[in-house]
Amino acid sequence: MEGDGVPRARSATSRGLPGPPLLAVLLLLLCGPGLGEPRAPPEKIAIIGAGIGGTSVSYYLRQKFGKEVKIDVFEKGKVGGRLATINMKGQDYESGGSVIHPLNLHMKRFVKELDLPTVQCIDGLMGIHNGEHLVFEESSWFIINMIKLVWHYGFQFLRMHMWMEDIFDKFMRIYRYQSHDYSFSSVEGLMHALGGDEFTGMLNRTILQSMQKAGFSEKFLNEIVTPVMRFNYGQNTGINGFVGAVSLAGIDSGLWAVEGGNKRVCEELLKFSKASLISGSVIHIEEKARNMQTGGPKKAYEVTYKTDSGINTDLYNIVMVATPLTSKTSRISFLNFDPPIPDFHQYHLYPLVTTIVRGRLNPPFFGLSATDSVGLSDILTTDNPNSFVYSISMVTPVKKEANLQSKPATDSAVWKIFSSGSLTKEQLNLLFASHDSVEEQEWLAYPQYNPPEKCPPIVLHDHIYYLNSIEWAASAMEMGAIAAHNAALLAYHRWYGSTEMIDQEGLYEKLKTEL
Ligand SMILES: Cc1cc2nc3c(=O)[nH]c(=O)nc-3n(C[C@H](O)[C@H](O)[C@H](O)COP(=O)(O)OP(=O)(O)OC[C@H]3O[C@@H](n4cnc5c(N)ncnc54)[C@H](O)[C@@H]3O)c2cc1C
Ligand SMILES: *[C@@H]1O[C@H](CO)[C@@H](O)[C@H](O)[C@H]1NC(C)=O
Repeated sequence: MEGDGVPRARSATSRGLPGPPLLAVLLLLLCGPGLGEPRAPPEKIAIIGAGIGGTSVSYYLRQKFGKEVKIDVFEKGKVGGRLATINMKGQDYESGGSVIHPLNLHMKRFVKELDLPTVQCIDGLMGIHNGEHLVFEESSWFIINMIKLVWHYGFQFLRMHMWMEDIFDKFMRIYRYQSHDYSFSSVEGLMHALGGDEFTGMLNRTILQSMQKAGFSEKFLNEIVTPVMRFNYGQNTGINGFVGAVSLAGIDSGLWAVEGGNKRVCEELLKFSKASLISGSVIHIEEKARNMQTGGPKKAYEVTYKTDSGINTDLYNIVMVATPLTSKTSRISFLNFDPPIPDFHQYHLYPLVTTIVRGRLNPPFFGLSATDSVGLSDILTTDNPNSFVYSISMVTPVKKEANLQSKPATDSAVWKIFSSGSLTKEQLNLLFASHDSVEEQEWLAYPQYNPPEKCPPIVLHDHIYYLNSIEWAASAMEMGAIAAHNAALLAYHRWYGSTEMIDQEGLYEKLKTEL
């Protein structure tokens, strides 16, 4: 891990100049203040949004810029954003981002550094429902499962694992690049550095096209891949190949979560990075030439925000936008920029409803007799007109002591249902033989994926960065953390003019020969 704010030594291949602070002093002496890029450290940084993106960027900014800089985090709702819990009968359940992959290294680093306890997610039995009956049911017997899988789908599962492993191997390169402090000024550039044209090409094609090209069967695509896309992104195989692969990783084994709720990572990151939380909604950002406390006249960004006590403004050297910019989710205006910052009206997030229900599933709905037990803990659905839900999964409270681990599905259990809209009473009565509590949470959950994907820019202005552009490649907690680390490095290198740390070509080969 990098030292706190201390720039790392340059690699042997760079020009052998002294590190940024000394270089900054030399340049200041040569050019005088106010000329060229600003070289004194930034005084204040604004972060808009306290989800996993905003809070992890505050962590990485603190690490890069050191302890002097003041970091303000604006949040109009709750810390955690799309990481949130819902309360039912005294117990909390994850209602947004819930599972974390074992290879999500930023999330792993955070829980370790913040000393947060974690829980393993139950690897329950999965079934696939086609609107009338179960087209596939996992068995708790490993051997029977294997025979079933091969019987139904040949060796496609195995091939899928090999296909994903190749993508994963390349994806993991990001951690290497970031630990060497390299950053990227566009999502496409970042993707290209990971896996070349093959990787950026995944953003241009649907997961259906990608997997058809790789030789997967229609049956496998319809009965397995489509339900997984519906379960994880509420969309079908028309989503881009990269988010499709991320989605398939979401049914791997070894998934975990943070005890007490994943949002705790955000709360603790804020404290750890000694950022100030400002409960308010940012309305607009304007570029201003003003005298800062030190140095001569400099350009700064005036952030205008609304709190309970009224409208306020404040000046910042760097601004991090850590919330999706779409027509609906965030109405931040960029005033008087020349050239103007593009608006984001062509970007949309998909609505999704999480419903938590305590009840007993209705076997006949799943094509079983009333006396059967459903016996599954995850029921995914194919894309068909009869499916009014994306998925139904058994869940446990975020607090460990109440773990219901081995409770059979016939008894009343707590289920989490994803659907495109609110479930009606009739629909709930179809799914459940009996139920006693229902809670729901509406989300604008993910981008509406529509390849060829054009990701929004990361650099909106000299020192304004947009983290959530990465969501148009794939939306997940770890993607937010990767975008945050990248944005912190990018902001740092652009501040000190270290262009050789940005958008380097051939990084993989370069780092391979360096070690
Ligand atoms: C139902 C659901 C299930 C999911 N499941 C998973 C999963 O299992 N695993 C996984 O990895 N990911 C999952 N995700 C995705 C994951 O939750 C998101 O990718 C991630 O949480 C996004 O974090 P973020 O910080 O980028 O954005 P957000 O969490 O949306 O944070 C943005 C914050 O900015 C605030 N804000 C917006 N505008 C302003 C303003 N003008 N002024 C001040 N504050 C503002 C918002 O209130 C919000 O808190 C899921 C998402 C949903 C909705
Ligand atoms: C992806 O599509 C864009 C146009 O939408 C094109 O410019 C780019 O070269 C394509 N990339 C690859 C790797 O096919």
